Amino acid sequence: METFAFQNPTKLIFGKNTTEALKTELPKYGNKVLLVYGGGSIKRTGLYDQVIGYLKEIGAQVTELAGVEPNPRLTTVHKGVELCRQNNIDIILAVGGGSVIDCSKAIAAGSTYDGDVWDILTRKATVQAALPLAVVLTMAATGSEMNGGSVISNTETEEKLSFGSPFTYPAFSILDPQNTFSLPKDQTVYGMVDMMSHVLEHYFHLEENTPVQDGFCETLLRTVIETGPKLINDLENYELRESIMYVGTLALNGMVSMGFRGDWATHNIEHAVSAVYDIPHGGGLAILFPNWMKYNLHVKPERFKKLAVNVFGIDANGKTDTQVGEEGIGALRAFWNSIGAPSRLADYDIDDSKLELMAEKTVKFGPFGNFAKLDKEDVLEIYRLSL
Ligand code: NZQ
Ligand code: ZN
Repeated sequence: METFAFQNPTKLIFGKNTTEALKTELPKYGNKVLLVYGGGSIKRTGLYDQVIGYLKEIGAQVTELAGVEPNPRLTTVHKGVELCRQNNIDIILAVGGGSVIDCSKAIAAGSTYDGDVWDILTRKATVQAALPLAVVLTMAATGSEMNGGSVISNTETEEKLSFGSPFTYPAFSILDPQNTFSLPKDQTVYGMVDMMSHVLEHYFHLEENTPVQDGFCETLLRTVIETGPKLINDLENYELRESIMYVGTLALNGMVSMGFRGDWATHNIEHAVSAVYDIPHGGGLAILFPNWMKYNLHVKPERFKKLAVNVFGIDANGKTDTQVGEEGIGALRAFWNSIGAPSRLADYDIDDSKLELMAEKTVKFGPFGNFAKLDKEDVLEIYRLSL
């Protein structure tokens, strides 16, 4: 293992009927709250009324920012920063999925920064402070509820960039699986693909002696493989939602990735597709990840074999590591197909006309990927495999 320091400051409040914890947790951070939410799902489900009710009970002064887009936009972050400054906000409350949380993180960092928050995403500035952030999660996917990362889209420049900071971990996150009952089947699938992709990004590393971490990762993947097919036919099943929600958080809160650096190239490759075509992140990953795997199988075939055997139960007898690895990649593709995830860029009507442009965007900060270093040509090859 590499040496590491681990700290995760987010207080995780998990389980049935936990949303009410807002009443005891929020007042610790002040009285003036910016409530941030998305395109209306929380109004349809009644969660909005419930949250507003709790906020009234504690006498909070509430300002609202509604309409955060999936793949949240810089323009919305700017609106939020303005609202925080005008209303002297003490704490931001994000009620939604990864997009609402990421937007709120950028607002939290942007409102304590003198320049344009986009400087932080383009790495011209680093976060030095942020307003506190609270979360009520409605979608299991990104892990944003317990990490310091945020991904923001600039539609003017067609860029989707990320930042991460110790200052933007949520102070607390409330995860009631019941708040995900209303998530439709397609978004449920995208969420499961995303959390599996986070685990896979970790899994492909070059460090030695990581049996504990490998085991954690394999368990998370097997849990989605066992739970996912049942869940998509039983969307309001508490136990199934509970397992998936727990996997989503563990997949990207640092718990299973101590002591090594995962690859993370596929996320960069996907973000360029989302930046240009505004497709769902999980849908893009389902298309790209198996092709990244095929392209990089030669780097360390034994790693792919381990995944194939321990997660997909592939029989390795009499086969080379490469053969077993290929079967594992096929099994991953088959699993994602079986739950209804897309498998080709063509599924989103994406042809080869903007591959160059997207590949260019992936190398904005130079070659990338920790398991396999990729340059623009490599990325183009992976895009071509994905058409
Ligand atoms: O906007 P509303 O009306 O709330 O609808 C949302 C949205 O349309 C809907 N939804 C969420 N919870 C619901 C619900 N609909 C009904 N019932 C519910 N309970 O689902 C749609 C998608 O929501 P979104 O927040 O966009 O999805 P997700 O959680 O997958 O977040 C995706 C964003 O997170 C970024 C992605 O790139 C993308 O921009 N990521 C963030 C990461 C992080 N911060 O650590 C890591 C990830 O790898 C990822 O890149
Ligand atoms: Zn992701």
